[in-house]
Amino acid sequence: MNEPLPFWASETFWKKTAIWVTSGSFVLLILLTFDSLAKISAGGSRVPAYSVINKDISYRFDKQLQRYQPVILGDAPLFGKMLSETEAEQLVALGKKTTQAKNCMNCHTLLGNGAYYAPDLTKAWLDQAWGGAGRETAMAQFLLDPEKYAHTYGSNRKMPNLGITEEEARGVVAFLKWMSAIDTNGFPHNFKAIGAEEE
Ligand code: HEC
Repeated sequence: MNEPLPFWASETFWKKTAIWVTSGSFVLLILLTFDSLAKISAGGSRVPAYSVINKDISYRFDKQLQRYQPVILGDAPLFGKMLSETEAEQLVALGKKTTQAKNCMNCHTLLGNGAYYAPDLTKAWLDQAWGGAGRETAMAQFLLDPEKYAHTYGSNRKMPNLGITEEEARGVVAFLKWMSAIDTNGFPHNFKAIGAEEE
């Protein structure tokens, strides 16, 4: 009648298991946190360093992955000026702060976050609408007077003039150029980029 319990039914076994599983998950969580941080920091494997704004960025279809991938090519300094890593970071930061101060997310999405009134801006730098050479000038012009340079994309929606300065417009262009070089696993889907190459 009074047979000893099998080991797996004992209280100590389950206590030990609970401790091992909890501490194992904790260690795994810490490792994954560092792994994610390395991937999402500028200069990591998916998010390029800010000085990528000195480069030509293209968008190519990767047959194996079945999605578009940003490809970083030769030198193409933004507004004709090569910037150091620090200068590039400052310009991108100014652009990011401008998008926050003017609440662009009230209409647009950035990396998928925001509102759906206007197009996602993640890959806006690569939009065909800016033309080829001198794209940064066309973009800055649009940002400074979006009513005059509206594309509207047949939606009849127009972006209001947000009263940003020329320096802020350059910052926004730098921020958008940097963001377009981020590997977003093909997001946003069906985005038709400038010079996109099907391979
Ligand atoms: C009130 C809504 C609204 C706000 C706020 C707004 N936009 Fe727009 N934006 C639009 C609309 C609508 C369009 C599409 C029409 C067009 O291109 O003329 C657009 C288009 C754009 C485009 C062109 C997109 C492309 O792929 O070609 C860029 C770039 C852009 N906006 C940047 C910004 C930035 C940067 C801010 C913040 C400083 C901002 N927008 C704030 C409504 C808005």
